Amino acid sequence: MIKQDVIIIGAGMSALIAAHKLAGKMNVKIFTKNIKSSNNSWRAQGGIAAAVHKNDSPCNHYSDTLKAGCLHNDQGAVSILVEEGVIRLNNWIASGMSFDTDSSGSFLLGIEGAHGRRRILHAGGDQTGARMMEYLYNKAAIAADIQIYENEQAVDLLAEDGRCTGIITKGTDERVYEHHSHFTILATGGCGGLFEATSNDPSIIGDGIAMAYRAGAALSDLEFLQFHPTLIVHNGITAGLASEAIRGEGAILTDEKGSPIMRGVHPLRDLAPRDIVARVIEGYIQQGKQAYLDITPISNFRKSFPAISKLCESAGISLENNRVPVSPGAHFLMGGVITDTFGRTTLPGLYAIGETARTGVHGANRLASNSLLEALVFGERAAENILKESDKIYQALSQKERLIEKQNTSCRAPVLPTRKEIRSKISLSLGVERDGEELKSLESWLHGHGAEAHAYADRSCWDRETIERSNMLLTGWLMARSALERTESRGAHYRTDFPHRDQNKWQGKQIIRQIQPKRATVIN
Ligand code: SIN
Repeated sequence: MIKQDVIIIGAGMSALIAAHKLAGKMNVKIFTKNIKSSNNSWRAQGGIAAAVHKNDSPCNHYSDTLKAGCLHNDQGAVSILVEEGVIRLNNWIASGMSFDTDSSGSFLLGIEGAHGRRRILHAGGDQTGARMMEYLYNKAAIAADIQIYENEQAVDLLAEDGRCTGIITKGTDERVYEHHSHFTILATGGCGGLFEATSNDPSIIGDGIAMAYRAGAALSDLEFLQFHPTLIVHNGITAGLASEAIRGEGAILTDEKGSPIMRGVHPLRDLAPRDIVARVIEGYIQQGKQAYLDITPISNFRKSFPAISKLCESAGISLENNRVPVSPGAHFLMGGVITDTFGRTTLPGLYAIGETARTGVHGANRLASNSLLEALVFGERAAENILKESDKIYQALSQKERLIEKQNTSCRAPVLPTRKEIRSKISLSLGVERDGEELKSLESWLHGHGAEAHAYADRSCWDRETIERSNMLLTGWLMARSALERTESRGAHYRTDFPHRDQNKWQGKQIIRQIQPKRATVIN
């Protein structure tokens, strides 16, 4: 078989998982706009959920996932997640990926919000993502078929005759390249970087969603953005995330006087679904009060949570006081580029995996620690599908990169609002609580700054910063539109003007499609 290139945009967990599945059979090129550790996978503290315990079952995991997701989930996709998840994870463990165990070798399983039992595997306590990524990168370093290009920004997707045929990239020297591929995978993460307070790497701003929209792929559920209730915030500065696993080990949320704040709110109290906990804490903050995580019940906090202890100490929070100031922040996008259960988007040749994809597994609110599992299961499934489909692809595409002349006098980069301005507007209107008037005003501000109009422009000669800001505007605009259209409160999407949660009237999925697919960057 002729070796055919697969291009992956993004270098997080799902990208690496897919690349490993393809390596040995196909050449894989991974492009990331920053360095390979600038993504959320490295930051994942909480672990990977899977029914590995003999007293657990995929069926239990399935029902917890659906409950947290407010039944907005695609049930078939959830079944695949929980059933294949255990098998695929065990394969990785057998190949050397390791997780924390007790002295008898049994996995130390944690619990987080909305899980009915302990089923979360961790590595290095609160360093699960980093440990898994180190393992995957060490493996990639010796895989001849995987090449990783850092600091190469994906500008747009190429599409011809209704098929994605590759990507356009820009290096730090602003030179533009056209790369052809038989298959292209979007794995650019979600969009937490659109918000002022976020657990995400700030570079994660919805680039993949914007690129997919411009290329004509259908999107959905962009209104469902999960806010993590407990970002560590001290003196107005976000220091990082305080994993829900801390509450799983007994910590409780309190007000300034030390009284528990989740009592009487939900039967699961501090381990209620994230959207519920986030709204309670947000309520305190809006009254000018502070909420805390009381860590007194955890006997050896530093040992169990070494990375979080370091975050607190570098932010000037003394753990001797046994309380950590917390506040909600943007964490995970449940929606994204619509895919089937093989990662295929509506644009042939284009796949989406990880947080960029809307596989349907998370519904309206993701169950904690399901995202690394999703990356693993659907990253592998996408790669397996590509291997299968590659046999059907006969057309020989150019395997070479082409440097594109960038001198184009008619191409002038627009002057866009700063990142700070965009984040401030988006945070105000697309936060934990939303309201129709605020959303309309955000939508029109973004539209007024060319959020959609710029999608049709020739962007190859824009500078990298302008390209990123235009992606921020476009993704924010698509989210505002989606949030406006969902006139109900469900899961992570809470409308103060539609506060009722009548389950019998819940609306279906909202699909956004770019009706006339355009190749955004014109290349001759
Ligand atoms: C956490 O550790 O609280 C985050 C885990 C997740 O979002 O899945």
